[in-house]
Amino acid sequence: MLIRIPKRWEIAERDATPEKHYLNRRELLLGAGFLGAEALASAAVDPKGLYPAKKNGSYTLDRPVTEEAAATGYNNFYEFDPQDKYAPKELAQRFTISPWQVEITGLVDKPKVWDIDDILKQFPLEERLYRFRCVEAWSMAVPWTGFPLANLVKAAGPKSDAKFIRFTTAKKPKEMPGMVRTPWYPWPYQEGLRMDEAMHPLAMVVTGMYGKPLPKQNGAPIRIIVPWKYGYKGGKSIVKIEFLKSQPETFWHQLQSSEYGFYSNVNPTRSHPRWSQSFEKVIPTMERRKTLMYNGYQEVASLYDGKEF
Ligand code: MTE
Repeated sequence: MLIRIPKRWEIAERDATPEKHYLNRRELLLGAGFLGAEALASAAVDPKGLYPAKKNGSYTLDRPVTEEAAATGYNNFYEFDPQDKYAPKELAQRFTISPWQVEITGLVDKPKVWDIDDILKQFPLEERLYRFRCVEAWSMAVPWTGFPLANLVKAAGPKSDAKFIRFTTAKKPKEMPGMVRTPWYPWPYQEGLRMDEAMHPLAMVVTGMYGKPLPKQNGAPIRIIVPWKYGYKGGKSIVKIEFLKSQPETFWHQLQSSEYGFYSNVNPTRSHPRWSQSFEKVIPTMERRKTLMYNGYQEVASLYDGKEF
């Protein structure tokens, strides 16, 4: 997404590398012994039988659901690999996600360190179909499993001066090779939302996809999805949620504030210097579609008064 990123893996690479080639490459690596058994055992485990969760029929799509192999095999997860979008699927398998805790802190009445198992017990899960739009102009349509972020916010009891939320994601350099290769990035990856955005019913805490627990490369065990914003607003593998008085600094905004605004709402009229946003390419067919304002989630328009970037 940023200046240091070599051109080869911008969107054109996606066009040039159909999934069948990716799968062949994986088989080759496995055969040659470059990948361990854990790379094979990437299937998520669900001992509590939480998945698939009940579908919430209110969230429908205007396009087919993206093939699971595409959505779980082509990832932006810089902590594992900042260049190759096919690599996190393999590199993330050694990432340990159990035990996992999420700290709720800052301007709240009920600060708490949640164990992931308790989060899963406390908040009923449901499945929703959402469009997912990356700032790099590719898009997918994904069945996410999780619960409204508003439920977690309410459980924290925000104080009246809590106006923003910051999400901090895992920083485990020993298990995250991409992080070690890019010491100039402001790790850990952090993102933020305004309180009313976080309370919007569309904003989701996500723990699963395709009727299974989240794969590690997609942000296991817990991530955020905000479907009317570019994908980078949804931090993966969250470890801390802080309630703040003022707007927090975020990973991409800190690196290049003129390219990555705090709001980052999907907006066909405001192009990124490297990616026109008027169209998107639907993965994996690369069919070109017109970008929809707010990624088609017009119900959020009332949150904004021209402050879209
Ligand atoms: N979260 C962390 N911790 N690290 C990342 O590199 N990339 C973001 C977002 N969340 C990222 C992250 C970007 S740029 C996108 S488009 C989405 O995750 C990609 O999510 P996906 O791989 O599940 O499609």
